[in-house]
Amino acid sequence: MAIHFQAENKCFTLYTEHTTYQIKVDAHGLLKHQYYGRKVIDTDFDYAFLNMDRGFSGNPYDCDPYERSVSLDTMPQEYTSSDVGDYRLTSLNIMNADGSYGTDLRYDSYEILKGKYSIPGLPAAYAEKSDTVETLIITLKDHGTKTTVKLYYGVFSEKDVITRCAVIINESIAAVHLEKVMSACLDLPFGSYDLIHFHGRHCMERQVERMPVSHSIQTVSSMRDTSSHQHNPFVILAENNTDEDQGDCYGIMLAYSGNFRMDVEQDQFGSVRIQAGIHDEKFSWQLKEGECFYTPEVILSYTNEGLGELSRQYHQMIQHNITRGKYHLARRPLLINNWEATGFQFNEEKILSIAAQAAGLGIEMFVLDDGWFGKRDSDNAGLGDWKVNLEKLPHGIHSLAENINAMGMKFGIWVEPESINEDSDLYRAHPDWALKTPSRRPVRSRNQLVLDLSRKEVCDYLFEQLSELLSSANIEYIKWDMNRSLCDIFSTEQSRDQGETSHRYVLGLYSLLDRLISSFPDVLFEGCSGGGGRFDAGMLYYTPQIWNSDDTDPIHQLKIQYGTSFGYPVSAMGTHVSCSPNMQSGRSTPFTTRAVSALSGTFGYELDPNALSKTEKEEIRSQINLFKQYYDLIHYGRLYRISNPFQDHCFAVKEFVSPDQSEALVNVIATDPQANPPLLHIKFKGLNENWLYRFDDKEMILSGAALMYAGYTIPAMPGDYSILQIHLTHVEEKADE
Ligand code: DGJ
Repeated sequence: MAIHFQAENKCFTLYTEHTTYQIKVDAHGLLKHQYYGRKVIDTDFDYAFLNMDRGFSGNPYDCDPYERSVSLDTMPQEYTSSDVGDYRLTSLNIMNADGSYGTDLRYDSYEILKGKYSIPGLPAAYAEKSDTVETLIITLKDHGTKTTVKLYYGVFSEKDVITRCAVIINESIAAVHLEKVMSACLDLPFGSYDLIHFHGRHCMERQVERMPVSHSIQTVSSMRDTSSHQHNPFVILAENNTDEDQGDCYGIMLAYSGNFRMDVEQDQFGSVRIQAGIHDEKFSWQLKEGECFYTPEVILSYTNEGLGELSRQYHQMIQHNITRGKYHLARRPLLINNWEATGFQFNEEKILSIAAQAAGLGIEMFVLDDGWFGKRDSDNAGLGDWKVNLEKLPHGIHSLAENINAMGMKFGIWVEPESINEDSDLYRAHPDWALKTPSRRPVRSRNQLVLDLSRKEVCDYLFEQLSELLSSANIEYIKWDMNRSLCDIFSTEQSRDQGETSHRYVLGLYSLLDRLISSFPDVLFEGCSGGGGRFDAGMLYYTPQIWNSDDTDPIHQLKIQYGTSFGYPVSAMGTHVSCSPNMQSGRSTPFTTRAVSALSGTFGYELDPNALSKTEKEEIRSQINLFKQYYDLIHYGRLYRISNPFQDHCFAVKEFVSPDQSEALVNVIATDPQANPPLLHIKFKGLNENWLYRFDDKEMILSGAALMYAGYTIPAMPGDYSILQIHLTHVEEKADE
């Protein structure tokens, strides 16, 4: 049993393989958070708390007035409300029917269920057959305002993950307003932490920043109505001394793709609190009598074995319990995309010539990017009109797909369903379908507006258009792009509070995606938002891979992949080999280097093979062999970040080890060649210390212990961005012990 309830002391203890999480109901019915960390069994952690009378930290009315040590302001809690005497970060802020704020949450009851709860309309982790998962639901009530809050906990034992979400139910006879409703609060009463988060920009997503948690409030958030390039809904709280290989760390990941906030605060007595959920700015939700509101899910994970292990726990979770469908664990087709080769300027002949070359080289799928529809000759027109542009493709999509299939390749296509150009038939027919406020002109970005996905008829229309497209030809892949940040969030149809529009947009997007993936289960969906502008666990629930970045520079990719890998697996990162000099950075790099860099992702090509030399084409064949040879190791193996590209400026090193430890691959890319260089010495990780490993192409055999503890010296790697791949296989003889 993963969830234990001790009735005598009203204590809930959640166990995963290596962690313990404890919640206790105190004498006043307050829900206290007692522990989250390394596994400790059969303990009531109440012993660790010394309640004291603290000045300016008030006491609930039902406490003995002479015993002033109970205060919500100092108690670690599971879920907190505004205006009830806890002055730290708040989970819930309700404006009650009488105009007052605050909810006095007291324990009411609990339920323990087998399996994992789901969340209506929202992405949520699911249990695989082999998983042991239990759900705990704790019900809290405010008898005064008649508000019920249900806290859900999903305990994934083998994954060392606990998921959380909250449901708010209005049981009064009048409407109330949710002004803020977070998914989860996590209090860490003891310890000294750093906050690690992943900031960025278009073409440079998920850069790593680590800073001490301080007494100020640190916020990681997005107000762009997408999770954004600028911040990611994933943060880590790590003890100050935690590194890749050891130390306590907690991951907090929100499975949501719209406005979010994650706030961290160290209180006056050193306790650290994090709140994660939908951003409350511009948010307000009317909850009528009997209605309920579901928050998005938070995926928590903890380890005492450092950041590397925490990431590997998330990789397993995302691969097995978030992504779904035919392709989530299957090898994805090796694709070529025409975007960097042609932009908008192509015709049928050009597309077929790229496809024919690619097919000849062994590439498995051709993806037709932006520009195939409407009046789409530039990014100024056409979005919304998902009908083929017959000037460019006179025989239509069906015939194009057929021709490409005849070459032995699958066919995929780009769409950007959420956006609309004013210069489109759709806009001319339905100008009110775009998000715009009545009082001002909307902000254009890339000369486009955004469709109001909070409206059912808009989503229905998109579903019909996309279904028609998908049924019109043998389309086996969709690249789902979204090329702007939102604003002017106003829905002409919204009869309720406009503060609901932004979340309703995300719900509309999720339901549209859900309908499409259920209707077309064999289609592989790749998410994209000008690269990785919406790279989150919410989108990964619908699209098992997401284009990592519009910056395909292989050296920049090292940092983007590094940052992304803290929370997301290699199989989720869309990465391609593009031409040199790189279109975004202008940097020239060797072809092999571009391939080795892109191999740490889904892999594919983003170039015109007609422009390649004979030698380069030959090289593509060997790159494809590498892709096939190492696919399982890279995609289903365990990733070890050997170097940190933000600190190590000369080399980037990462290692993949097969789950049974019988095989390992180390990729080294020289990022700044040195004259008279110091030796680069690395220590392998994750091998079996008692086993012997043979190096490919060498007679050398070394033990796992030697490779991990004494390490290995990399031969000099002169020249621009040279690479080295070291592949090891376990040899049967046992090392002398
Ligand atoms: C942004 C994407 O990230 C690119 O790969 C490409 O599809 C363009 N949009 C097309 O407009």
